[in-house]
Amino acid sequence: MAILLRDESTAVRVCQAMIRADARALLDAAQLPAAELSILIIDDDYIRQLNRDHRGKDKTTNVLSWPQDDSPGPDGSMILGDIVISADTAAREARERGIGTSSRIRRLLIHGFVHLLGFDHEISEIEAERMRAEEKKFVTIIEQRRITEMTTLAINIDHVATLRQARGGLEPDPVTAAGICELAGAGGIVVHLREDRRHIQDRDINLLRQTVKSKLNLEMGATEEIIGIALDLGPDMVTLVPEKRQELTTEGGLDVAAQEEKIAAVIKRFNDKKIPVSLFVDPDDLQIKASASAGATFVEIHTGRYSDAVDEAGRKKEFSLIAAAAETAFDLGLRVNAGHGLDYLNTGPIAALPAIEELSIGHAVMSRAVMVGLETAVREMREIMFKAEGG
Ligand code: PXP
Repeated sequence: MAILLRDESTAVRVCQAMIRADARALLDAAQLPAAELSILIIDDDYIRQLNRDHRGKDKTTNVLSWPQDDSPGPDGSMILGDIVISADTAAREARERGIGTSSRIRRLLIHGFVHLLGFDHEISEIEAERMRAEEKKFVTIIEQRRITEMTTLAINIDHVATLRQARGGLEPDPVTAAGICELAGAGGIVVHLREDRRHIQDRDINLLRQTVKSKLNLEMGATEEIIGIALDLGPDMVTLVPEKRQELTTEGGLDVAAQEEKIAAVIKRFNDKKIPVSLFVDPDDLQIKASASAGATFVEIHTGRYSDAVDEAGRKKEFSLIAAAAETAFDLGLRVNAGHGLDYLNTGPIAALPAIEELSIGHAVMSRAVMVGLETAVREMREIMFKAEGG
């Protein structure tokens, strides 16, 4: 099977890895695994020209498709046809619908694909109904594959516990904070149970396990003591991070490549208890590939160097590394999260990366919460992410 994808869009950034993965899944679902499908992503000007030249309609449109009328050979190989999508129109329609651009491109790809299979809504109302039913079938198959609609905001509440530990008392309670974050729309709660228990305590994770309704992500170093606690607790997922006693916060990504076997064994222990594992790694192909081969379900891409960049050139360079790493991970079948150092100014571009499912943010939200309240701080961050995704 060949997916021939060319991205000629200039104003809208599209996730090629996601389009490729969707196209492959569509061919599989249509039982045409050996077919060749060509996909071209272009701007409005070009699609208008194609629409005028081939259909006599001098206006832009979202998707065009041309079947090849080829029939499968003995080995199933065939040329299915071409799908052309305007990234400009897709982005505009996404904004109107309050969804991400890549979600809209996915729907257009499915529409074009169903046309290639011989369905045509322009023939009659009955045909239109048949085509809608077929599209619905593929939408269900494709969208259930991977949850990549809106990027989720997971809030790290460690700093609430840091404030509590400053006086060694009961206030502020991270368990209450978790509830407020969820009320404000957080899709997950993250806590780091450190060996030195400098902020989150064992009591916190036990109560959070009972009260968190969204998703409890336990961040942890892979030491025997903490692994045992985590296996007993049964969080919704764990994120393995390197942990140093002296550091103020997690400093670098996990060197998975250097200890793949050890990490694979830890992942297996969690997977045996149906707990998915995320590895916190730098945006580096070597680490992403090692994470996939160690059997991780997720990677969390470290955005620290991007956040710490002191000038625009540095930020752009780090952003490109994150974008490329996210696509590599997605292509390898990993689910992709990101986090560290994200704030109210730098989160937008990361949230707009379509391969990324979830952002883990702590310090910036807690710092703002001191000024505006926790619920407002979480809502404001969610708004930034929603807008960045074309909402
Ligand atoms: N992800 C991981 C793995 C982390 O260690 C941290 C910091 O605790 C975060 C995300 C959140 O970083 P920040 O507090 O800078 O938002």
